[in-house]
Order: sequence, then C-alpha cells, then structure tokens
Amino acid sequence: MTQPRRPTLVLRRLCLSTAMASLLALSPAVHAQTMPAKDSPPIMALTQDRVWARADALVRQMTLDEKITYLHGLFPPQTKNPPADMIPSAGYVPGVPRLKIPTLRETDASLGVANQVEQRKGDTATALPASLALAGTFEPELAFKSGAMIGGEARAKTFNVLLAGGVNLTRDPWAGRNFEYLGEDPLLAGILAGESIRGVQSANIVSTIKHFALNAQETGRHVMDARIGEADLRESDLLAFQIAMERGKPASVMCAYNKVNGDWACENDFLLNKVLKKDWAYPGWVMSDWGAVHSTVKAANAGLDQQSGQELDKQIFFGEDLKQAVAKGEVTTARLDDMVRRILYGVIQTGLIDNPTPASEQPIDYAGNARLAQAVAERGSVLLKNQGVLPLKKSAKKIVLIGAHADVGVLSGGGSSQVRSVGGAPVEIPLNGGEAASFVRVTWHASSPLKAVQAIAPGADVTYVDGKDPVAAAKAAQGADAVILFAWHWQTEAADARSIALPDNQDRLVEAVAAANRNIVVVLQTGGPVLMPWLDKVGAVLAAWYPGQKGGEAIARLLFGDANPSGRLPMTFPAAESQAPRPSAPGWAEQDAIDNARRAGQKAGPIKPFAVDYIEGAAVGYRWYEQQKLKPLYPFGYGLSYTSFTYANLTVEDGAVLRVSFDVTNSGKVAGADTPQLYVTAGQRKRMLRLAGFQKVDLAPGQTRRVTLTVDPRILADYDVAAKGWTLPAGEYALYVGAHAGDAALPGTAALKGWTGKP
Ligand code: BGC
Repeated sequence: MTQPRRPTLVLRRLCLSTAMASLLALSPAVHAQTMPAKDSPPIMALTQDRVWARADALVRQMTLDEKITYLHGLFPPQTKNPPADMIPSAGYVPGVPRLKIPTLRETDASLGVANQVEQRKGDTATALPASLALAGTFEPELAFKSGAMIGGEARAKTFNVLLAGGVNLTRDPWAGRNFEYLGEDPLLAGILAGESIRGVQSANIVSTIKHFALNAQETGRHVMDARIGEADLRESDLLAFQIAMERGKPASVMCAYNKVNGDWACENDFLLNKVLKKDWAYPGWVMSDWGAVHSTVKAANAGLDQQSGQELDKQIFFGEDLKQAVAKGEVTTARLDDMVRRILYGVIQTGLIDNPTPASEQPIDYAGNARLAQAVAERGSVLLKNQGVLPLKKSAKKIVLIGAHADVGVLSGGGSSQVRSVGGAPVEIPLNGGEAASFVRVTWHASSPLKAVQAIAPGADVTYVDGKDPVAAAKAAQGADAVILFAWHWQTEAADARSIALPDNQDRLVEAVAAANRNIVVVLQTGGPVLMPWLDKVGAVLAAWYPGQKGGEAIARLLFGDANPSGRLPMTFPAAESQAPRPSAPGWAEQDAIDNARRAGQKAGPIKPFAVDYIEGAAVGYRWYEQQKLKPLYPFGYGLSYTSFTYANLTVEDGAVLRVSFDVTNSGKVAGADTPQLYVTAGQRKRMLRLAGFQKVDLAPGQTRRVTLTVDPRILADYDVAAKGWTLPAGEYALYVGAHAGDAALPGTAALKGWTGKP
C-alpha cells in the first residue's frame, strides 16, 4: 500500500513576531563543553509513580469517546472543516478542555521547526545544519542546545509535540534520510539523539524518537520488509534507540513505515510490546508514522497507542473501528485505557500539562539561535583533505567561487524536516515526480557563501560562476589565488539516491577546474558520502553536509581559518559503491517498473513489496569495513585540523568496569579541537570493532589534557537471544585509542571480568 500524496496547499497565514528574547547566547567562537550536559535541569521533576497516579486519575474521568478521540490524530493539510485552533503542520489531536488535557499540536522536527513547501506562509524558523553535521561535532552539549533551541521555537510557535529524535543508523550510503540521522554508530547516534531529545523536552514539550525501527532506506519504505536477526538488531539499531531513550526519555516513540521481519513496524508485537514496553519498561506512547497503520485490532494489541495523520492511512483505524473492537472485546478496555494513560504519562512527564504552551505566538531570539546554527556548522564540518591550500589567505587578490548557487545560498536536505529558514529560500525547485514531489522542493537557505567570502576578504576581487559550463568555469579559475568549488548531492525523504556519484556532470566540472588551477578547494554539500574520482587532483576538500541557515558564513570562517575545522566523519566514506553491504539501493527495480508503466500510459499498481536482508547484521559502517578488510576512502571518525594532535600515556583500568585514560596534546601552532576515540574489538557471535568512547577536547597550542573514557558494557557485549540479555564473557580484549576507526595510535588490552545484563 502506498501513502496518498501530501497536498501542496497554500494554507492559512501565520503572523509571527520576530522580536527578540534571549533564549540562547552562544557565539560560534565559544566552544561547547565536551561532556554530556549533566548539569542542565532535569526534565523529570515528577516521580514516575506520581506521573502514573495523575495519568490514571485523568483516565478515570474520561468518557469512552474522549478516550477514542485522543487516540487518532489529524493531518491538517487534508483535514476537512479544520478546527479554529488548528495550525497547518504535521498533526493535530484534539484534547479534553474540561479536564485540561491538552490538544496535541505536532510539527516536524530535528533540524528546526519545519514548514515544508511553506504551508504556513511567511512562517520562518531557525534552520540548523543536517543532523549529520551535529553528529560530526561529536558534541553532546551541542545536541542538547540544538534540541533546546528547536523546542523553544516550537513552543513559541504554539506547538507542543516535536516529531524529532531521528536515530536510524546509516546502513547504506545512499539512503535518502541519512542527512536527518546521526550516522552509523549506535553509541554516537544514541548519545547525540538522547541529548537532543532532552533538549527539546527541556522546553516542556513532547519529543518523539523515530523511526522505530530499521527504517534504513526510503525507496519502497511503505512496502519493504527489513530482515535481520534479533541479536544483530539489539546490538545495532535498537542499541542506538536504547541509549537515546535512557538519556532523553522521549515522551513518545514513532514507529516506522516498513515491516521488520515480516510484521509492519506499527503492529510489530516483538518491537513494541516485547522490546520497548516489556524489556525497556518504556512508560510513554507509541505513535504511528504518517500513513504507517494497517490494522485496528492487531496494531492495538501489538502495542501501537495512537494513529497519526489518519487521512494518510487507508482508513481511520483508531476511531470508530477501535470503539467497535473494544465493544466486541477484541481489544480489552484495559488496553484501551493503557493507550490513553501512556499519552497522558508523556504529557505530564514533560511538564506540558502543568506548563501549557502559550495560546499565541511568542517572540523568538532568531539572532541568538542563528549563532547556534553557525556553531554546529563550524564544529561539524569535516576537513577531508588539505595539501597546504587551507586556510586561505585574506590577502588573496582574486577569489573565484563556482557552482551550487553559492552566490545566494546553501543547499538543504528535502522532506518533512524541511525548515523555511529565517531569510527565506532564494532557490526552490519543484520535483516533477515521485512520492516526494507532493511535499518537497529542492531548497536553498539564504546564506550566501559569496557574500561571506567578500566580507572575510574585503580586499579581494571575489566573483561567482555557476559552473554549468566546465570550460567557462575553468577559464574563470585560471590565475585565481583561490578557487572554491561547491559540489552538491541533494538527498530527500521518500527516495534513496540511485548512486553516490556527484550528479549533473559535476565530476567533469571539478576535473576541468582542477586542471586550470591546482589550488582548487572543493566544498561538499551532501547528505552523506560521495565518490571523488578527482580527489588526487584537488588541493583541499571540506565536507560541509547541508550546513543550515548560516552555512555560508560557517564555510567562509572555516576556509579562512577564523574557525579551525574539528568535525569528524560520523559515517564511512566508501572508495567504491561495491564496498557497501549492498551494491545499490534496493527497491529501485520495483519503483522503476511502476514509473515505466505510468510513462507508457498503463495503469500501474502500488510498488511491489520486496525484502532487504541486512546481511551485515550488527556490523554497520566501519564495523563492516573492518570485518571485510576493506579500505574505505575515508574512515569513520576521520577529520583534519589546521593544527595537529598527539596521544600518550595510555592507562587501562579493567576488571568489572573498563575505564581508559590518556593524554591528548595540541602539538601544532594554533588552537583547535580534537576528538580522540576508543575502539575495542569484542564479540563471541562475531568479532566486531566497536566505538567504545569519544570526547571532544579544545586545546590551545602546546596544551595537554588527560581524558578518561568509561565504557558502557553493552557496547562490548553480545546480545544472547536464548538467555534474553547481554553477555560479556571474561577475557582479554584488544583496544586502541586513535584519531579514527583503524588508527591504533595507542594500542592496549583489557582483562575484563564477565558481565551479564538485562535486555
Ligand atoms: C515522516 C516522519 C514525519 C511525519 C510527519 C513522515 O512522512 O516519515 O518522520 O514526522 O511524516 O510529517
């Protein structure tokens, strides 16, 4: 079954005040702390028992119809006769005013308060860079601040549920939503997602975590069956969710579109009842993704608590049908009450019920929030190559910028996460087909690299050529002191890329310009890895991801050395597509069959269901490359700086708990930040390299700091399906501290006592 298309309606205008209030005062130059934000205020001031008691008291007072109404949500763009207080956005669930149960006003999501295809005319918000940039910072502190910023803006715009917390692991380099997620490692992704959710909920609104689980690809997401063994799933994607949920305590979990091992994720008893609610004792509610519900009785009994965006499903499963199912005893009254109670638990736990969102829009400190967006872009961009070209000299006389609309803006990823950023969208290109076409346009944020470079090098003659003609671009580059070529690879929700080669003849463009001027700097704006056949011929490469609404300024500061690059790759960059566990994106054959039939004027049914076997199991990303002895183009964790770092004096405290300490020194001439990483090889089922700890450290030239990393034993353990829990056998474990996966700068071993743990 396919999801009905979203309409591109132009909806009611929201007048937003842009007056200032001081929400955050973060300057890009001020570096975040590198440890998780322990001292920020706890979001759960109420004990769990107290929250349950209050939720139960409310459930007792609700009528059957009130309960049912709270269990299915509307999709505002398609709602007929919308209620007066409905904001055009992703979702709306009417509350119960007589009991002060809040109406849920839902919006996307992780990169800022979304406003896809400008459904709320003129409503702009702060657009953070892609979550991949956040992952590239390796800074939990920035994740918390990002979440708090979005939560604050959402609240000020009267939303109270943020559909944030995307934490699916990157299994395929071309997957359409990689840019919205946090990379390929469960520890890194889990910590950052958890902090970001904690940040959102610090604004007393609900955050989701999504998409539960194994929504690892977009093409065919409504029909595909993701197949994997339980232990593999627990040690990879589920572990990322688990870590994030422990830290962030999201009030809601959004189940995914796809099937997992034969059952739809939103009616998957194993995922929802067994793992989430039983093993992890999750107290909150499971909401469906938009158009991801397939049944009433099966879904309700398998653990789905709320149907979202009902207009996008085949029918309203959790309305009258659910009422009937309860009347017939197919769903018990106890289960019905449990569904409602879980939602109420979430709205009480987050403080939403005690501190309701304002009735009208509040002022937002957009200038302060823009500084945060810039800080994430500066701290998360990754310098991949630098042959003495960077930093660029401000005394340069002639600088040429080429390609990707760098005269006016920076590229953004597409989909439900699309923010209409402050400053607007100088370039917007509609799509001419595919599922994404109804709610996506290829969008640039108004942050001009050209203007930023002109401002930073005021004495230079700075010009822009669009790069459409490689010969003209090469000619413009000749004799320039600096050439900055902006390469792009646009990615979107609802479709995977067919390839990670740069599209639109860009490889030829880079080759031509590099032949004319060897000092060429390539700035990548991509949603993940891309192939770089021209790598040997260029002077420098900076991966800026989709850098958000201050991307132009951030890129200029990084290139000219006002900011020192410190991002590290949150995902492996393959040397060739054939290195990935699957050589291409599954589902395109099925999708093409439909598209071809439609083009031939034939009636084409929905895309044919297909299955993907995740043969890499828990060995996602760098773990796969290590197991298969493959040399990637750039490994996970990799990134250069304008200074250098050394590691020394490793000590390993082992026994019951593994704790590793070492010195990190800035051995270069300028201040910079490094992210030393601890890797351990473990696994009885299958030997596997694992990122066991990391810490970002800011260091002045010559400065040394001692870093201590304490390891969560689940990272090293096997999941034992028969014993129903984690198991780490006693023994010797090889480890190393290094600058990236595969860099055994400080090798060691740990003698660990055995450990077992609950799932
Ligand atoms: C996406 C979700 C999103 C929802 C509401 C879905 O298509 O998969 O991530 O939150 O739409 O916009």
